[in-house]
This record gives sequence, C-alpha cells and structure tokens, in this order.
Amino acid sequence: MDAAHVDNDLVNVLFTEEQILERIGELAQEIETDYDGKELLIVGILRGAVMVMADMARAFTRHVEMDWMAVSSYGSGTKSSGVVRILKDLDTDISGRHVVIVDEIIDTGLTLSWLSSNLSSRNPASVQICTLLRKPEALQMPVDVKYVGWDIPNEFVVGYGLDYRERYRNLRDIGTLAPHVYS
Ligand code: IMP
Ligand code: MG
Repeated sequence: MDAAHVDNDLVNVLFTEEQILERIGELAQEIETDYDGKELLIVGILRGAVMVMADMARAFTRHVEMDWMAVSSYGSGTKSSGVVRILKDLDTDISGRHVVIVDEIIDTGLTLSWLSSNLSSRNPASVQICTLLRKPEALQMPVDVKYVGWDIPNEFVVGYGLDYRERYRNLRDIGTLAPHVYS
C-alpha cells in the first residue's frame, strides 16, 4: 500500500519507494566494492529489516549469503525499553566470516550496539553495520555504523518494514506517523 491508503495517519512522506530503492542500490554498490574478493554474509534483523534485506540482496551483482536474527528491544509502543533479548539466533556459524548487519533504523542505538558486540564475540573475520535510517538526536549508545542510508529527525517513522504496533510495515514509502495515531 502507499501513503494514499493510510490517508490521515502520516504527517508527511519522508522517502518514496523510488528514493529508497535508489539509495539502497548505492549502499549495495559501496558494500560490493568494500568486500570485493571476499565472501559476504548479510544478517537481517527481523522483522523490520525484511524489506531492506530483500531489496539490497537483489541490488548486489554478486553472490551474498543471507541469515536472520530476531531480537526484542521494543515493547509495542514508540519508546525503547533498553532490554535486548535474542528471540531467534543465527543459523550460520560466523567464525572467520565477513558479516554485515542490516537494519532498517537506529534509534537509541541500544539494539545494534549490543548486537554488534554479541556477533563480534563469535570470532568473525569482520562485523560492520548497515542501516537505512539513523536518528542522531536519539542516540544513547555509541555505535560504529559504516553504511547509513539517511540521517533523520527524532520522530517516529513507519513504512518499508517499520511498524507501529505491527501495522504500516507493508507501506511502500517511509513517513512520519501522526501523533493522533499513538496518543
Ligand atoms: P534502538 O535500539 O533504539 O536503536 O531501536 C531498535 C529498534 O526499534 C529498531 O530496529 C526498530 O525496530 C525500532 N524503532 C526505532 N525507531 C523506530 C521508528 O521511528 N519507527 C519504527 N520502529 C522504530
Ligand atoms: Mg529493527
């Protein structure tokens, strides 16, 4: 669905499907150059990163392996709980592997800072982070992010995998959620 299908729920559209695909193509190219000649495993963080992973994996012009993790850091609202728990671990043994964690958004940074040190402790050849969106003003933990799609203001956004209470994930565009939806 697009913005027209959720009419009053968005304050604005931040990025259209077209802009998102273009930016993901650029990120994929950058990663491809950096990992030239190396095997690469991209790890998507469920469930939000499903769309980014699907589009990024297909933007590559080389082989790439995909695996998934599920962690919980959010309840059902719009604030981070700060508690990270593994709900689904990797199926892959990453020792000696080059890993890029793919996520859709970094808010407080709690999830990814925890996750990258967790994966780093498994003796991989390398671990880097790629995120489509980042909210610099919301950051509470330093996270070393190599690939960023866009920095955005500290507002709650939905669409393209990003949800509010499991809705809006299938919105093609990314938009700012209107406060009346969650207040
Ligand atoms: P962090 O740990 O605060 O960096 O955020 C972890 C997760 O919270 C992200 O991967 C998202 O799943 C979710 N999240 C953070 N900000 C937003 C938002 O603006 N919209 C929807 N989900 C968000
Ligand atoms: Mg996420």
